[in-house]
Amino acid sequence: MSTAISPTAYNYKVVRQFAIMTVVWGILGMGLGVFIASQLVWPELNFGLPWTSFGRLRPLHTNLVIFAFGGCALFATSYYVVQRTCQVRLISDSLAAFHFWGWQAVIVGAIITLPLGYTTTKEYAELEWPLAILLGVVWVVYALVFFGTIVKRKTKHIYVGNWFYGAFIVVTAMLHIVNHISLPVSFFKSYSAYAGATDAMIQWWYGHNAVGFFLTTGFLGMMYYFVPKQAERPIYSYRLSIVHFWALITLYIWAGPHHLHYTALPDWAQSLGMAMSIILLAPSWGGMINGMMTLSGAWHKLRTDPILRFLVVSLAFYGMSTFEGPMMAIKTVNSLSHYTDWTIGHVHAGALGWVAMISIGAIYHMIPKIFGRPQMHSIGLINAHFWLATIGTVLYIASMWVNGITQGLMWRAINDDGTLTYSFVEALQASHPGYIVRALGGAFFASGMLLMAYNVFRTVRASNPADADAAAQIAVAGAH
Ligand code: HEM
Ligand code: HEM
Repeated sequence: MSTAISPTAYNYKVVRQFAIMTVVWGILGMGLGVFIASQLVWPELNFGLPWTSFGRLRPLHTNLVIFAFGGCALFATSYYVVQRTCQVRLISDSLAAFHFWGWQAVIVGAIITLPLGYTTTKEYAELEWPLAILLGVVWVVYALVFFGTIVKRKTKHIYVGNWFYGAFIVVTAMLHIVNHISLPVSFFKSYSAYAGATDAMIQWWYGHNAVGFFLTTGFLGMMYYFVPKQAERPIYSYRLSIVHFWALITLYIWAGPHHLHYTALPDWAQSLGMAMSIILLAPSWGGMINGMMTLSGAWHKLRTDPILRFLVVSLAFYGMSTFEGPMMAIKTVNSLSHYTDWTIGHVHAGALGWVAMISIGAIYHMIPKIFGRPQMHSIGLINAHFWLATIGTVLYIASMWVNGITQGLMWRAINDDGTLTYSFVEALQASHPGYIVRALGGAFFASGMLLMAYNVFRTVRASNPADADAAAQIAVAGAH
């Protein structure tokens, strides 16, 4: 470990920028989520215009929450964690700045092009080729900065959180490039290089691993740093974290076909995807248990520390969604759940309960440190945010379970003579109350984000970033 204090210490500027944009994009992406959820209750909200229709705004919602909100949270935390655990400054400030501005440009590009209807039509990979190329370039720069910093590290070993962030960076690059290979026919239109079932398989290999490596592995990196930090306890088992890492990345990559059950995909591939998904429960729960058990001897802190509550409850939702996922991957269960709101409920158990809550906890932990304040402006507001987020998530997923199972059962119900018992519209009518509850749950969650914005604003306004940079110098000289 170095004892020299560098005059420049860590690059907290890029961490501050990404952290603030996490909150901004979170509000926008989730606000849009509430809007499209309301469109499903009150279709008049489509306004009869193509660019405000559900079909165009839905992909904008997914891009904003996954890549803008989730992405900025991952970048802010990974740059913070890699510097503190490697005890060095990022290798290049200008590359880090390019990463920040390049990423914001991609997001603005998405906000313009998706409502206009420019899309590849591949889910979570909708951006047309010019934006996809820009995204690829920005990603390579991110990889250079992150891995370059690891190479330059002053510590002997590489902290496990960085392994998870590293896998997230490498695999996301691989997925993005392979799934986007296409033939441009104009500036705004391209066709996939793959055809038919192959295209579907590549897309869901991408789609599932976007979940596995973007929405899971990166956030596990976050978990391995911020849970022990906030609990002020060492990670429960470092050995388990290594087993967790290798098992998770070895298994995730095979599970994509569970998105294509009962399709033209060869049967053996569907069964392989199903089997791998069931096995995936083990490393997922291994990671969850490792995080939870870190609190042994520190459980009492949950009574007074709402940031720790965010982190621990996110692990509980992670455990829940990674139990639900393998179950839904079983073909007979999937024949009921697929096409229904059950999938949407599962998605948001992971997205709101796990991804958003761990990010929110990590950002609350980081903001005072990177802005040179002793703590957030109001702990009471963090607590209020915690309850809004938890109640919002529960309302969202419970209503979608009820809707999903109702829809699945009504669609498959048949009379003695073989005709359908219910029309599609009857199943839709039965879903209406659930849609109202989901919109309400979403509004709870999104209003919590507004409290966060106010709390962050007050903390930042009272701050002096020079203090944070001075603190960073001390941190460079001391323990991480
Ligand atoms: C062991 C872990 C998991 C397994 C085996 C799993 C399995 C599944 C299955 C079987 C589906 C339904 C596919 C269909 O019928 O179309 C699904 C959908 C989905 N899951 Fe998971 N899941 C897991 C964890 C997660 C987590 C933690 C998240 C979020 C952070 C997540 C996000 C999603 C998304 C976004 C979809 C919807 C994809 C789409 O159709 O657009 N999953 N998952
Ligand atoms: C206030 C919070 C949110 C609300 C109200 C909301 C609402 C919605 C709605 C209404 C849909 C469309 C469902 C349908 O087509 O039937 C949707 C889809 C989706 N949302 Fe959200 N959302 C929220 C937050 C998030 C967050 C934070 C994430 C990710 C980190 C996320 C990821 C997704 C994904 C991946 C889908 C597509 C699911 C699929 O295709 O199966 N959402 N959301």
